[in-house]
Amino acid sequence: PKATRSKIGKLGALRGQRVTVFGWVHRQRTQGKDMRFLVLRDGTGYLQVVLTGRLCHTYEALTLTAESSVRVVGQLEAVPEGKSAPGGHELVADYWEVLGAAPSGEDAFNSRLNADADPSVLLDQRHLVLRGETASAVLRCRAALLAAFRDHFASSGYTEVTPPCMVQTQVEGGSTLFQFDYYGEKAYLTQSSQLYLETCLPALGDVYCVAESYRAEKSHTRRHLSEYTHLEAELVFVDFDDLLNSIESLICDTIDRALANPEVAALIQQLNPGFKAPKRPFRRMDYSEAIEWLAEHKVEKTLPDGTTAPYVWGDDIPEAPERLMTDTIGEPILLCRFPAEIKSFYMKRDSVDRRVTESVDVLMPNVGEIVGGSMRISDMEELLEGYAREGIDPTPYYWFTDQRKYGTAEHGGYGLGVERFLAWILNRYTVRDCSLYPRFPGRCLP
Ligand code: 4AD
Ligand code: MG
Repeated sequence: PKATRSKIGKLGALRGQRVTVFGWVHRQRTQGKDMRFLVLRDGTGYLQVVLTGRLCHTYEALTLTAESSVRVVGQLEAVPEGKSAPGGHELVADYWEVLGAAPSGEDAFNSRLNADADPSVLLDQRHLVLRGETASAVLRCRAALLAAFRDHFASSGYTEVTPPCMVQTQVEGGSTLFQFDYYGEKAYLTQSSQLYLETCLPALGDVYCVAESYRAEKSHTRRHLSEYTHLEAELVFVDFDDLLNSIESLICDTIDRALANPEVAALIQQLNPGFKAPKRPFRRMDYSEAIEWLAEHKVEKTLPDGTTAPYVWGDDIPEAPERLMTDTIGEPILLCRFPAEIKSFYMKRDSVDRRVTESVDVLMPNVGEIVGGSMRISDMEELLEGYAREGIDPTPYYWFTDQRKYGTAEHGGYGLGVERFLAWILNRYTVRDCSLYPRFPGRCLP
């Protein structure tokens, strides 16, 4: 008869019973001639397996390689006092078999992953790297945090939508668009689903999406990907202050929900020991204060002729000085009210200081910007001026413009880079480690 498979992560309730497990040989070691310990991994957890006597004398046992897949049947027992094993139990095998042997020698799993090699080797072998304890823990946290985001939005009354990735309009400037041939017409991979979310407001109220965004990035940095997962939300009948509060609440509530699950909390501690949820309210700072901060701390820009000069009001603050400021301040910052000229065409201007927009970037220590958001222009004339300022032909944007024509409403929203959010919480050096198969200039494989 077919023995039912028990998942390793669910063995807790089966102590003292006979079980059948399937998995991959994560690690193994022998102790004397008559004992071999395997650590099995099946994606739900790790399990110590003990092979004794004749079970470790067979040809299969003597040639067993890491990452071979196996089936093991035996008695699940609590580990003896003073010994440790994952879950506090081990499987004492009375039958086992190899299902798929992994190679030995030059093609052995560990030889393929020579960590001393160029980092691109590990990227080439990403499909094998995923099996490791760190990479798989990151992916598990990623799944838990995506679920927590969705729980936050569901409990706050947002509706999830799935906008298209193939588009004929830009959102964040023409210079980072990936263009392709769409049945003979020019089309792009989307940079942001924001414009589509805005059109949903009169139909669905507050909405959000989790979708891939694409940027043909010129910046080869540890926080830029060519394809990233973008969590975007749009809120209607709100003001700028409501928007800032909703962003804070998204970040803090998502983390609280994730940490409330002990397994997820343990994974986060494993990857980022000592991680603490940030305190509300976050520090709020205006762009103009950031320019002053840079001047006070003598952080200057390098001019084309190699000399340096202070940042002045109106300058875009690049990644390096922004990181320096954020790391020095050492806590989350809501950086607000950027000049209209350095921001996108759709951003609403401040009602008092017309030079600036009601915009916000959330900056986190060690990563920098993780969220960008703003109030949106609700006035038709102002939007047409925005298109003109950016040199955008309004024709293909008719559907976006129509929002201002058929019952305009004050609204705003934001986009959060999921890999950057993870890099911050899990203390990863680069967003590349937070993506299943990262895409960046020079890399589109595996
Ligand atoms: O600041 P961005 O460009 O804003 C927008 O796209 C808005 N339309 C979003 C909105 O309001 N709905 O991008 C938003 C976030 C950034 O803060 C960053 O976290 C992430 O997306 N991001 C990237 N992440 C990885 N690689 C890249 N190349 C990224 N570009 C932006
Ligand atoms: Mg931005």
